[in-house]
Amino acid sequence: MKKLFLNFLKTLLFLIFSSIIHANADDLFNKGKVVFLEAGNCATCHALSDAGSNAMIGPNLNEIRPDIQRIIMAVRNGIGVMPAMEGILSDEEIDAVAHYVSISAEQ
Ligand code: HEC
Repeated sequence: MKKLFLNFLKTLLFLIFSSIIHANADDLFNKGKVVFLEAGNCATCHALSDAGSNAMIGPNLNEIRPDIQRIIMAVRNGIGVMPAMEGILSDEEIDAVAHYVSISAEQ
């Protein structure tokens, strides 16, 4: 009986800690970086020093330092030759990549 209680306690602690880690803002930043480099293909066209990319098809993001709304607009709807990503990226991925770019472009 005591062992069962200890196991229950362990599970509870694990759940509490993993939800704290999940709510961490850095989590969104890291997720956005992965979208930037992989699913979103942003690094193929944009320079961004944090991502180690220096492509020059689109504007250098460290130079234009777009705010989060401007990034969401561009990613959802596309702009110029940049393709619209709505339907290709999930809303969650778009939020994450916008969060990541708006912070890392300031550095
Ligand atoms: C195929 C190349 C390409 C890809 C992939 C691409 N972009 Fe772009 N992006 C461009 C070009 C070109 C422009 C400039 C468009 C213009 O102003 O005519 C641009 C513009 C932007 C702008 C500025 C928008 C504005 O209001 O001026 C932001 C922010 C941006 N891109 C972010 C991203 C992000 C984040 C991703 C990944 C999800 C991404 N781009 C993927 C080519 C690309």
